[in-house]
Amino acid sequence: METLELRQHLAVAATSLRSCLEQYRAAGIQVLPASATAEVPDAAVPAGTEETGSATDLGQLRQILGDCRRCKLSHGRTHLVFGVGNPHADVMFVGEGPGRDEDLQGEPFVGRAGQLLTDIITKGMKLRREEVYIANVVKCRPPRNRDPEPDEVASCEPFLIRQIELVKPRVIIALGKFAAQTLVRSAAPISRLRGQWHDYHGIRLMPTFHPAYLLRNPGDKGLVWEDIKSVLRELRDTGFETAVT
Ligand code: URA
Repeated sequence: METLELRQHLAVAATSLRSCLEQYRAAGIQVLPASATAEVPDAAVPAGTEETGSATDLGQLRQILGDCRRCKLSHGRTHLVFGVGNPHADVMFVGEGPGRDEDLQGEPFVGRAGQLLTDIITKGMKLRREEVYIANVVKCRPPRNRDPEPDEVASCEPFLIRQIELVKPRVIIALGKFAAQTLVRSAAPISRLRGQWHDYHGIRLMPTFHPAYLLRNPGDKGLVWEDIKSVLRELRDTGFETAVT
């Protein structure tokens, strides 16, 4: 298992364990007998972490994911939404999880929010959508677009981690609060996380507002443009040719 994967594995397990203990506390359980500690649900152990490490390309990783039934999100999905784009992209976008359109089409960011993301990529960054890589934290649509739950993230995140390891982007752009907080392991609001560079195991990571948020709050588009300009500066400073000056 690679170091990044192992560290993420432990971080995911810690997050799941904390959430489980919070649920016990909320249920009025203050003390756990030694035997009960062994009954922490499977959610604490991300399924598939070992298997993802064996994939040497995205095609193999997709095969390992297969007709995934690793978590309850699989029950309601139409299509699993793996990811799309250049397998060696310099820029990788990570969203939260598929919405209705994505679930129907099997591709990330194809609904209204996706159209806005495409505009950011093509009109703002002057890149083609096929030049970047786009994925989500969870690959199946959460019911009624609720936030993914810790056990669902724990099951799915090894696949995102391996996608990042295989694509090896120069920059990750985390779209919205959920993706940013998950990747950065922070509970800080997106308004504080955005606009700042974060380190994702040696990869520069810029959180920004989710395009769906921008559809509801178009007045914040300028802040996203600031974040995108930081990304373009970073790419240019590391030798990437961009059409934007
Ligand atoms: N929102 C997301 O976070 N991801 C998608 O793929 C679509 C909408």
